[in-house]
Amino acid sequence: MAELLYRPRRLRRSETIRRLVRETALTPADLIYPIFVTHGSGVREPIPSLPGVFHLSIDEAVQEVGEAVALGIPAVIVFGLPARKDELGSEAYDDDGIVQRALRELKTRFPELVLIADTCLCQYTSHGHCGVVVSGEVQNDPSVELLARTAVSQARAGADMVAPSDMMDGRVAAIRQALDAEGFTETIIMSYAAKFASAFYGPFREAAHSAPAFGDRRSYQMDPANGQEALREVELDIEEGADIVMVKPALPYLDVIRAVRDNFNIPVAAYNVSGEYAMIKAAAQQGWLNEREVVLEALTGIKRAGASLILTYFAKDVCRWLAE
Ligand code: PBG
Repeated sequence: MAELLYRPRRLRRSETIRRLVRETALTPADLIYPIFVTHGSGVREPIPSLPGVFHLSIDEAVQEVGEAVALGIPAVIVFGLPARKDELGSEAYDDDGIVQRALRELKTRFPELVLIADTCLCQYTSHGHCGVVVSGEVQNDPSVELLARTAVSQARAGADMVAPSDMMDGRVAAIRQALDAEGFTETIIMSYAAKFASAFYGPFREAAHSAPAFGDRRSYQMDPANGQEALREVELDIEEGADIVMVKPALPYLDVIRAVRDNFNIPVAAYNVSGEYAMIKAAAQQGWLNEREVVLEALTGIKRAGASLILTYFAKDVCRWLAE
């Protein structure tokens, strides 16, 4: 065999050397932990398709978030299950809605924690769509108005960041304007900028009781085949005032994460969604995959692709594993 000038294996000889040249480090500081809050007290109801994830009443959410904070998680994103759903999703922008109540409580208990509110209507509408429906069609501009009201109400309740996940056109600009008009100039907008119409949201919809009653979300969420369009969506959201842009889902869209990272100078978030979580959980329960190894590899891959923030239901486990 010929002399080899460069032998890549030299840098793989020991864990210490490998650590020295490692390019990507996953840390608790990257993670955002999603929680689902519901009315009542003492409620900790398991979500069958998301083992380890629960519907939590606010007292239980305080407990859960306390654990997350103790593990070093810097941020949570709050989703709500309303008491009642209606045509216009009114609990979403009710100052006394479940998310607003949870935000107020969490803000007093954990002043340092970054509180993110998912800004959308689908959990609150009787038809399960992310906006106002007229004659079977999701109306853009009336939905944007309600989303802006929702964001303001969330900021008023203590959200440090609002995260519009609806994919209506022009919602980031409308939200920025509404927040500023109410004096919330420091409230951060993390937009779900490139959100694809994905079957990987299936378990979440069970969790949030938010499956659309008719049709699907393809008239507002993006076609999974479109990477160029994703960059256009991101560009638009940045022009409209987004502070952080998100790509969602994460693992089937690593190329999109990379392209966004390379094309724009703005923090990129990636949502490791419910279906991505459920797949790993299911295989691990069967003994077919090593959960810890697979999760750390998958999330490191998301970070390597260019995401600096990762939303994941695995957040607490990851913190424990990283500390071992
Ligand atoms: C609401 C919303 C969804 C998710 C986050 N916000 C579901 C959807 O668009 O149907 C998905 C999260 C997940 O699957 O983990 N618009």
